Amino acid sequence: MNNHRILLTERPTGIPGPEHFQADVEPVRPPGSGEIVVATRYISIDPAMRSWIGVGPSYVRQVEIGQPMRAGGIGQVVESRAAGFAVGDWVQGRTGWQSHPTLRGDQTQNLDLSVGTIEDWAGPLGTSALTAYFGLRDVGALRPGETVLVSGAAGGVGQIACQIALIEACRVIGIAGGADKCAYLRDRLKLDAVIDYKAEPDIAAAMRRACPEGVDVYFDNVGGEILDAALTALRMGARVVSCGRISQAGATEQYGVKNLGALGGKRVRMQGFLVFDYHDRYAEARAWLTHHLRAGRLRQKLHVVEGLDRAPEALAMLFSGGNTGKLVVGVG
Ligand SMILES: NC(=O)c1ccc[n+]([C@@H]2O[C@H](COP(=O)([O-])OP(=O)(O)OC[C@H]3O[C@@H](n4cnc5c(N)ncnc54)[C@H](OP(=O)(O)O)[C@@H]3O)[C@@H](O)[C@H]2O)c1
Repeated sequence: MNNHRILLTERPTGIPGPEHFQADVEPVRPPGSGEIVVATRYISIDPAMRSWIGVGPSYVRQVEIGQPMRAGGIGQVVESRAAGFAVGDWVQGRTGWQSHPTLRGDQTQNLDLSVGTIEDWAGPLGTSALTAYFGLRDVGALRPGETVLVSGAAGGVGQIACQIALIEACRVIGIAGGADKCAYLRDRLKLDAVIDYKAEPDIAAAMRRACPEGVDVYFDNVGGEILDAALTALRMGARVVSCGRISQAGATEQYGVKNLGALGGKRVRMQGFLVFDYHDRYAEARAWLTHHLRAGRLRQKLHVVEGLDRAPEALAMLFSGGNTGKLVVGVG
């Protein structure tokens, strides 16, 4: 049996793409004691990957040149020498961009398929959903009935953040790029209002029109100009959840935010976070998400790019807005 892999060959200075990777094949490494071999089915594609391979600073150790790209994934056990894992079990772990990785059992989790399908585990029970849950509820201190503005609203984290706020009886306004994404948010997810930032000549004016009473929680996935505009639309005591700043990925010069003056007068709290900070509480989040998934109040559009060889192309899609929903690569 062979393990197909995608190796990092060059560090991107801007947006990563196929030119920075190379396909490779090797025999599957037989599992040692405590290890399993997994046939990968889905690989999560995440904006953070850019910082794991780029030339700038990263919050985790960088992937080395010549090594398989790092990634979280879901797959089925095909060989096991680890207690608690049987052939046929579905698991999630650090598959990387590999078809048949050999993984440590103590770094891999069994998936409970009585809770959700493997697509649910890739989507509304996955890390993006956990990010939305802790970002909105803990960092954003969301309260029922508030007005919530979400950027990157049609993406993996954004879609779940919007739905969590709807479940909490909030008024929810989503910002996304393009008519199709906005139609999806308005018609399928039933958001109260949407803003197509690519079609709006004045994004701050569009926010004021959509939120005439002001915004209580701004869930920021993009940073840059949209963050700056959102600062002008905040209400007294608002919270800004700094989840990500994808608009600045690959920018030669970082956007300088001008409207920070709004924070003092309106007693705004702005806070960043990493989902891993909440690792001890994942079970709590998944119980909440499962409850609402089963009740039909939560859905996640998975955007599947089929083929391990297309992983580099999929990664580039995040930065051009080519995905709607949680982006994964389908393998096998
Ligand atoms: N804090 C954490 O622990 C944590 C964990 C996971 C993810 N994140 C962050 O959460 C954000 C969303 O991640 P995700 O995995 O769910 O990705 P995603 O939203 O599914 O995909 C990225 C989206 O970003 C939007 N985008 C790209 N360039 C943009 C620009 N210049 N201006 C505005 N929007 C732009 C695109 O949507 P449009 O077509 O709408 O532009 C694209 O579809 C990212 O910033 C990521 O870094 C943070």
